[in-house]
Amino acid sequence: MSVHVKINGIPVEVEEGTSVLSAAKKAGVKIPTLCYHPDLKAFGSCGMCIVKQEGSSKILRACASPVAEGMSIITNDPELYSVRKTILELTLSTHPSTCLTCVRNGKCSLQDLAAEFGIREQPYQPRVNMQTPVDDSTPSIVLDPKKCIKCGRCVQVCQDMQGAFALEFIGRGSNVVMAPAAMLTLNDSPCIKCGQCAAHCPVGAIYEKDETSKLIEAIADPEKVVVAEIAPSIRVGLSEEFGLKPGTVSTKKIYTALRRLGVDYVEDTNFGADLTIMEEGYELVHRLTTAGSVLPQFTSCCPAWVDYAEKYYPDLIENLSSAKSPMQMQGPITKTYFAQKKGIDPSKIYTVAIMPCTAKKFEAVRDEHMSSSGYQDTDLVLTTRECARMIKAAGIDFNNLPETEADDPLGEYSGGGTIFGATGGVMEAAIRTAYFAITGENLKNVEVNAVRGIQEVKKGEIDIKGKNVRVAVIHGMANAKDVLDEVRACKKAGKPAPYDFIEIMACRGGCIAGGGQPYGADDEIRKERAAGLYQDDKDDPVRCSHENPSIQKLYKEFLGAPLSEKSEKYLHTSYKKVPIYKA
Ligand code: SF4
Ligand code: SF4
Ligand code: SF4
Ligand code: FES
Repeated sequence: MSVHVKINGIPVEVEEGTSVLSAAKKAGVKIPTLCYHPDLKAFGSCGMCIVKQEGSSKILRACASPVAEGMSIITNDPELYSVRKTILELTLSTHPSTCLTCVRNGKCSLQDLAAEFGIREQPYQPRVNMQTPVDDSTPSIVLDPKKCIKCGRCVQVCQDMQGAFALEFIGRGSNVVMAPAAMLTLNDSPCIKCGQCAAHCPVGAIYEKDETSKLIEAIADPEKVVVAEIAPSIRVGLSEEFGLKPGTVSTKKIYTALRRLGVDYVEDTNFGADLTIMEEGYELVHRLTTAGSVLPQFTSCCPAWVDYAEKYYPDLIENLSSAKSPMQMQGPITKTYFAQKKGIDPSKIYTVAIMPCTAKKFEAVRDEHMSSSGYQDTDLVLTTRECARMIKAAGIDFNNLPETEADDPLGEYSGGGTIFGATGGVMEAAIRTAYFAITGENLKNVEVNAVRGIQEVKKGEIDIKGKNVRVAVIHGMANAKDVLDEVRACKKAGKPAPYDFIEIMACRGGCIAGGGQPYGADDEIRKERAAGLYQDDKDDPVRCSHENPSIQKLYKEFLGAPLSEKSEKYLHTSYKKVPIYKA
């Protein structure tokens, strides 16, 4: 049912239950916010969005107050302005305000509001303990409690969206801090390193571990041959860092930018994604066609999901595909096959992966399987945001760059590799190849719409010549709980598996909105980024991983066949139970 309200006298019609904040947006009125994020239930902690209702003495928080028929809202007057300014001044009195050396300089909600409200002095006594330690215990993210403004977003994200329960508010009143339970370090907590807290934090209190200086050192080292690769979702993610519309595909400009930064070779992780599909697809076919196999098979390319499974569902780790992620396949193939082909000493190769993901920094060093080439397979992982900072610092005019191609042979890919970046993409690419592996024919229509879209849990049945393959696709770690519990219950009761193949991505929307992607993703932006990848797939003359000529050549010249001894050595891994809390 619709209701009619006025915002600063502007009439607007909205659905019942809409927040005052959203109604104002529809009326073209911006209300300042600090703690609110469209992904989350309004928490109402900061008070910046206060508004008045005509005929009432109550002050409402626009983010947390629903509209009612006939309401007339005032969003700005001298009193509201003054209260908001006081809130900001009080917040700043507990904040270090070290903007020049802050990772969020230029991209910080608090900094923006302080500028908009023209705050020039500090009327309140500063109360910041500059000795409060920074937690940099994980390879992925850094927590600086000094900068926390207690908005609550990270706690909600970690608990409600990710189901990881690594962060909570500890203490009371002005002494409250946001930290892992019992004040453990993040590395000892249940943190799965997804970085969604960093992507949602409005300030610089949680951020990706910046390792850009390592790439600068590697490029400067004449002994090193630097080989860069870009993940499927980078081709849309990086564009936004340069003011381009969400969903804009910039693949060939990114290759050029990396070359101008000084890397020696440019590869594409989409090649690794095609390779993952070959190994994972054939593993699925093996499980489907071999009596007594463990089903369902789970995808394993999201390291945050793997981390979650090892901690929360260790009884299901035999269900995880043993195939490594695209990044961790690209690395060993670069240091073996590619090195041999180019006549490069593999000990000199330095591989850098540009990823949407903070958990990938952890994955690169998670265990000995990540050094299957005899060297660390991926030497460095940089997020989209780190890569963008390097391009800007180098003075590269990204938008006017000429386009170049990736280097052969690990730069060639299919559309199946491209769609890995969006929720449902791995499943769709795997179905394209599994169908071929079982029937010897390609699907007539390679687009599997049942697994596309932003719906949290997508279920369907795919008919592969009379065999119904039951699939589920889940994104947003907490959304996986019901399906995982269902699989666990069937397993415990000795009942047949309820699904055959399940794709799980820790981040809402998949890697297009990973923890290292440009700030500000909401569902609209997620849909646009995904649409960019699907269009790129559509425009690709090769849509199926098994039809990528360089993949075919790799098997012919080096690996033999999917699941061969060599493939197992370089491209597969194993998992183990990990305690939720480390002692
Ligand atoms: S760390 Fe960031 S997201 Fe978490 S409560 Fe503090 S300011 Fe908010
Ligand atoms: S990285 Fe993910 S799991 Fe870890 S604290 Fe942040 S939201 Fe929670
Ligand atoms: S969904 Fe993608 S970006 Fe997010 S944690 Fe998993 S691999 Fe990383
Ligand atoms: S934005 Fe509404 S209370 Fe913070």
